Order: sequence, then C-alpha cells, then structure tokens
Amino acid sequence: MNIDDIKQVLIVGSGNMGQQIGFQTAVSGYHVILYDMEQSLLDKAMDRIGKLAKNYIAGRRLNDQSAADALNRIRTTVDAEDAGKEADFVSESVPEDPDLKGRVFAQFNKICPVHTIFTTNTSSLIPSMFAQATGRPDRFAAFHFHDVRFNNIVDIMPHQGTSRETVELIKAFAERIGQVAIVLQKENFGYVFNAMLMELLKSAQSLAANDVAAVEDIDRAWMGVMHTMVGPFGLMDSIGIDTVWKVTDYWANVLKEPQAMANAAFLKKYVDQGNVGVKTGKGFYSYPDPAFGKPGFIEGK
Ligand SMILES: NC(=O)c1ccc[n+]([C@@H]2O[C@H](COP(=O)([O-])OP(=O)(O)OC[C@H]3O[C@@H](n4cnc5c(N)ncnc54)[C@H](O)[C@@H]3O)[C@@H](O)[C@H]2O)c1
Repeated sequence: MNIDDIKQVLIVGSGNMGQQIGFQTAVSGYHVILYDMEQSLLDKAMDRIGKLAKNYIAGRRLNDQSAADALNRIRTTVDAEDAGKEADFVSESVPEDPDLKGRVFAQFNKICPVHTIFTTNTSSLIPSMFAQATGRPDRFAAFHFHDVRFNNIVDIMPHQGTSRETVELIKAFAERIGQVAIVLQKENFGYVFNAMLMELLKSAQSLAANDVAAVEDIDRAWMGVMHTMVGPFGLMDSIGIDTVWKVTDYWANVLKEPQAMANAAFLKKYVDQGNVGVKTGKGFYSYPDPAFGKPGFIEGK
C-alpha cells in the first residue's frame, strides 16, 4: 500500500481527541468518518468541531471556504459496518482501557478491508497490550497526538510485530496532515513527551493531594520559573480531569502504589462533580477565562 492509497480515514471515538484529529485530518483534504456509540455524542462532537473551525478562522489558520470544505469532508455514523467498510486508515480515540481498545479493534478488523492501517491514540498504554486483539498486529501501531490545536508533534510507536511498511505509512500520513513525527525505536510507556509530562503531573497531584500547596500556587510556581503560559493543573483541565483520573487510577491499581491511589482519589472528587476541565467549563479553573490566563496571576493579584 502507498500513501496515496489512503483516502478515507475512520476516527473511532468522537470525544476530545477524536474531534481534534478528525478535524485536522479533514483540513488536510481527507474524507473523515467519525464513529461513536450514540448519535447525540456525534452531534455534540460536530458542534465542537464547528467551534474549532471558527477558532481556526479567527486565528487565520483557515479561511471561510477551506473551513467549510473541511467540515463537509466529515461524516458521522453510529453504524460500525458503514464506518469501517471503506476505511483505509483508522485512528482510535476511545477511553483509556486496553480491553475496550482491543474489543473495538477486533470489531473493526472484521469490517475493514485487509489493507487498512490501525492506529491507537492511547496516552499511557503500549500497543503490544492489545496488538493481538486487533487481528492485524503487523498493520497496527500507536499514533499519538498531543493537543492538535496548539502543537503538531505526534509520536509513532510500533510494537515488535509492527511491519516497517506500516511505520513508514503512518509517518507519511503524519506529514500529509501537517504533523512532525517522533518515531520511537522501542515501546515506552508515555512515549517521549508524555513520559516526562506524567512525572510532572504526578508530582503536582501529590503536592495538592497531600495539602502541601494550593492548586493555584503549584501552577504559579511552575509558570513563574519556567515562563510557561500554563501550569500542571491548567494542563490537566485541558487534557480532561476524567482522562487524567482514568490513567492515574489504572496505574495506581496495577502498581498498588499508595501515593498514586491518593492522587486518583483527589482527581475523582472533580470527576464525580462533573467538573472535568475545559470541556465542561469548570475543572481546577473556570472557563473560558481561567484565572491563570489573567494578568497578575503569577504575582498572586
Ligand atoms: N485528552 C487528551 O488530551 C489526550 C491526548 C492524547 C491522547 N489521548 C487518548 O485518547 C483517547 C481518548 O481520549 P479523549 O480525551 O478523547 O476521551 P473522551 O472521553 O473525550 O472521548 C472518548 C469517546 O469514545 C467514545 N467511545 C467509548 N466507547 C466506544 C466504543 N466502543 N466505540 C466507539 N466509541 C466509543 C465515547 O463515547 C467518547 O465519545 C484515550 O486513549 C486518551 O488516553 C487523550
């Protein structure tokens, strides 16, 4: 298979990441199918993608016509057969659970053509955990995006059974959709950037969960010293506290680490209240104008 043979891209899971990846892919000229379990979720996703398009226009990344063309290239469906039967490339963004991801790929393995490349956008798992379940381990690898709205760094992480051709195709596809690929030489939990980020977020959670410092002060310390626009808690709000909790809780249970369990319990309080960050308008901060973005935040004014 050649990069030019990739024409139709299936995005499985229309949440936070599925929306961003789907839109970026459509902006780059591909036909995109967005698949989820309920039409109401897909309608919500298209609404948010519409807002994303408006932001791209406001930021002069797209003009009105190219944004409208990109939106027209996205189709939604709750019918898996319809979603997968003509897909050349699959990007999966369902919740962070290896069994669920394995089941989803096994389902699409029966539907998609033999040539279709399968990729997972997992944040914290490694592809060998569910490579066999995909039914096509040689045409499967992790293809991981960061926040597509603000950066274009992606990780490509093969497992031992991924073919060289698959890695090359994913790399070529990444370039076609305007991304800079970091190709890992071996599997590593957290890829490259996230491996570093997870340590930062874990430290920030521990400081707050152990009542060492307030959330705002922890962010203030990081932002003030590192000269960044956002601190660890602002970052968690944009990732989604529910997603951060899932990852933290999963590893806390696997490793039986008391501090990780305390951190998961700390995050769960926000999840239970439905305050999971930017996507709900409230998390550690309130949106659209979070306190850390206002003048004087670092000075504590
Ligand atoms: N949020 C981030 O910043 C970020 C960044 C990179 C990678 N990721 C990874 O991307 C994946 C998705 O994260 P998210 O933040 O978009 O989650 P999300 O909760 O916003 O979206 C997940 C979507 O998957 C759908 N879904 C659940 N089961 C499904 C199924 N069986 N078939 C089809 N759709 C199904 C849900 O209805 C939901 O719409 C996770 O693996 C996460 O670790 C997240």
